[in-house]
Amino acid sequence: MIVTLDINNRPYEVNVRPDEYLLETLRNLRFFSVRKGCDTTSCGVCTILVDDNPIASCSYFTVKAEGHKVTTVEGIKEESEKIVDLLQKEGSDQCGYCSPGFTLTLYSMKQKLEKPTDDEIRNYLVSNLCRCSGYEGQQTAIKNYLEVK
Ligand code: FES
Ligand code: FES
Repeated sequence: MIVTLDINNRPYEVNVRPDEYLLETLRNLRFFSVRKGCDTTSCGVCTILVDDNPIASCSYFTVKAEGHKVTTVEGIKEESEKIVDLLQKEGSDQCGYCSPGFTLTLYSMKQKLEKPTDDEIRNYLVSNLCRCSGYEGQQTAIKNYLEVK
């Protein structure tokens, strides 16, 4: 079936299966920042934004995205470079596999939460697992990005 998607503020007309998930569709469209991990909604590496809310693209049907705004990390280039710089400064960008999903969730958090507490930050990022960083450096980088101390 043909669906029209708004991805990073550009229209795409794509032919998808009714049971196809956005993860597959976006990678077929060469948005390779969208990564596959667990494929069971557990790790968060496939995170993208739908209407500025983080969702696991491995379990979101592509047909549901029609009429909504889809954002991948390719669509927030400047902001993502800022986030990656801050993570690197804290030594918490290691293998980088989790980075695109993590970056999008953090970008979304900045739109939605004003001066979040440590617990609110951890809670917002609860679906984005990182097997390398240990989270402490990330937390410092996040607070620098959000400009909260
Ligand atoms: S691949 Fe989607 S949550 Fe792990
Ligand atoms: S930096 Fe390796 S999984 Fe997060």
